[in-house]
Amino acid sequence: MIVYNEKLKSFHLTGGRFSYVLYVNKAGFLQNVHYGARVQESDVAYLIGYRASAYAPDSEDKNCDMALNEMPSEYSSYGRGDYREPSLIALRRDGARMSRLRYASHKIFDGVPAVKGMPHARGGGSTLAVTLKDDCSALEIVLHYTVWEESGVLVRNVEIVNTGSEPLVLEKAFSFCCDLPEGEYSLLRLCGSWARERYPETAPLAHGVTRLQSLRGASSHQVNPFTALLQKGCSEESGVCYGVQLIYSGSFALTAEKTPVGTVRLQGGIQDIGFLFSLGGGETFVTPQVMLTYSNEGTGGMLRSIHDFIRAQIVRPDCVYKRRPVLVNNWEATYFDFDNEKLFAIIDEAAQLGIDTFVLDDGWFGKRDDDRSGLGDWFVNQNKLKGGLQAVIDRCKQRGLKFGLWFEPEMISEDSDLYRAHPDWAVKKEGVKPVCGRNQLVLDFTRKEIVDYVFGVVGKVLRENDISYVKWDMNRNITEVYSAALPPEKQGEFMHRYILGVYDLAERLTAAFPNVFFEGCAGGGGRFDAGMLYYFPQIWTSDDTDAWERAKIQWGTSYAYPLSAMSCHVSVCPNHQTGRTISFETRGAVASLGATGYELDLSKMTKEDKEKTKAQIAAYKEIDELILKGDLYRLSDPFEGKYFCEMVVSKDKSRAYVVGERMLYMPCDYDVTLCLAGLDGEKTYRIRELNITASGAALCTVGLKFPRLLDFGSWTWHIEEVR
Ligand code: GLA
Repeated sequence: MIVYNEKLKSFHLTGGRFSYVLYVNKAGFLQNVHYGARVQESDVAYLIGYRASAYAPDSEDKNCDMALNEMPSEYSSYGRGDYREPSLIALRRDGARMSRLRYASHKIFDGVPAVKGMPHARGGGSTLAVTLKDDCSALEIVLHYTVWEESGVLVRNVEIVNTGSEPLVLEKAFSFCCDLPEGEYSLLRLCGSWARERYPETAPLAHGVTRLQSLRGASSHQVNPFTALLQKGCSEESGVCYGVQLIYSGSFALTAEKTPVGTVRLQGGIQDIGFLFSLGGGETFVTPQVMLTYSNEGTGGMLRSIHDFIRAQIVRPDCVYKRRPVLVNNWEATYFDFDNEKLFAIIDEAAQLGIDTFVLDDGWFGKRDDDRSGLGDWFVNQNKLKGGLQAVIDRCKQRGLKFGLWFEPEMISEDSDLYRAHPDWAVKKEGVKPVCGRNQLVLDFTRKEIVDYVFGVVGKVLRENDISYVKWDMNRNITEVYSAALPPEKQGEFMHRYILGVYDLAERLTAAFPNVFFEGCAGGGGRFDAGMLYYFPQIWTSDDTDAWERAKIQWGTSYAYPLSAMSCHVSVCPNHQTGRTISFETRGAVASLGATGYELDLSKMTKEDKEKTKAQIAAYKEIDELILKGDLYRLSDPFEGKYFCEMVVSKDKSRAYVVGERMLYMPCDYDVTLCLAGLDGEKTYRIRELNITASGAALCTVGLKFPRLLDFGSWTWHIEEVR
């Protein structure tokens, strides 16, 4: 709900359990007076008195401008006395960059503003749009805030309008600014690398600017476009925290600035390093949206709000709760070395085991026997696949399986027909030898004719073949940030325009082929973000499928993304990434906490493992609805080094599913209590595997013993209400 109080000139936004209160102070600045627990509308006057007296410049006196440095600002500018990081820097023709933004008008309306060409919250809610005018230029800034009655998430973004006739250049155009009061905060971030994505790291927020960013043209393996500010004492299920998450997949920055007086400025959006966006007279620049999530139930409360929001507002509604196919992917089974016989053997076995879909990975097209050639040539390699894709699809059909196919639409190999025909289509600059990550170059998706071409060739394959699933990969980042087609003054727009090109293709392909289910991927989880989830309901979480490493990666990922967004596969042991051997049961248990599948040569499995696979798939189909729709409670953090344990509870609290894994066995450390969470204290439950019946209250407060297990042993518990 959004309430405007004309007398106080205040806006009170509420959703879930939070309130967000702004007001226009006497000097005309839009100032934040509260972001936190839900308060009454009648509290707003008190909040203004309390917060404003400390910070607000309330008149045009001579100290007014300097007071901007203290004021909790809703969008900060540069060069007029606020020395903290600005949200916006606009360079004018005369070289001036200063601006100071004051309230001009506002509107409140139903719905959420669409962000053209970019992923965004899909609908419902109500929006406050506040227009600020710059004292020093013809700039107008429209701040959007959208709230939903039941949601703990507030969505913001900004429109920057050049109302003058002279062009200007945006050097920085963040999506939001949120100044929080002084406090002892820690910052949580999700960092990593290839095969080690989204490891959580929490550290006290130190003075100065802490910056999380990607310069790679993708949200990256290294730093996810998510962070959370934790108030002192915040833990998994108690305490206050604020999540910040961009609905954006390109280069980004998120910053947290702790000032000398202990206040914190959170900001973020499109990466400003290398960014220069020219804005002609009358033109508007729209920033990506950001999700801000308040929780007073710890990080667990935060992540459950985020999961609900992503499912309700980001993921395609026709796919979000659709039963996910249990699939087998041939990548780790064959890599590039396959022919009809090898694939048929996997398909035949898959059918016996109850698998739904066979996904043919890299290597089916062009001249592609290793990673040095063929990208861009999306034509089947008839030498490798006799009878083309049709033969494989026919085999799948005969065996009752659906068929999925791998593409890497954004890429081009130098050794490809496409490159020979269009060497200028790759991202590079004449005279500069391009860096060749994974022996390939990136197509210049800032150019519409290239996106059109890729839409045409990929679309042709999808149209001419019975394909129900696409894995969209992206295996290298952008280096030489340059487009041969952009004029010099627009080169600073490259990175943003690139990702707009990716969104354009994703939008067109998913719209043209509504029955195809798309999975995202980027060398594992190198572009795992809310932007991609708008188009692709699930993403390959990581190339690391080792069941202990995966438990950690999935734990980290779950801070910001629902289980249904994570593709999780059982692979062979010794594991290809870690060399470790972990039991088939544990691999299956960890992979059941997401959209499950298999990534190994089924035809080479032992009879015993085949039986286990059948049982795992049958068991998965019993709980997949919980994975798609349930609430996640995280019981034991694998980063503490002993146990991983997560629990999913149905919304009506009648069912739950627990998965746990032991790391290394230690003697005499078996009397450890594991308290369940999220159950209804009043209800009685039965844990099938333990044959225990007890109240939700007892299970969540007294708890159970961790099972006694050796290295990397695991357990699954099915919990049901006894009526
Ligand atoms: C990436 C993906 C893998 C596989 C290979 C194919 O690394 O993460 O799953 O598709 O590319 O080249």
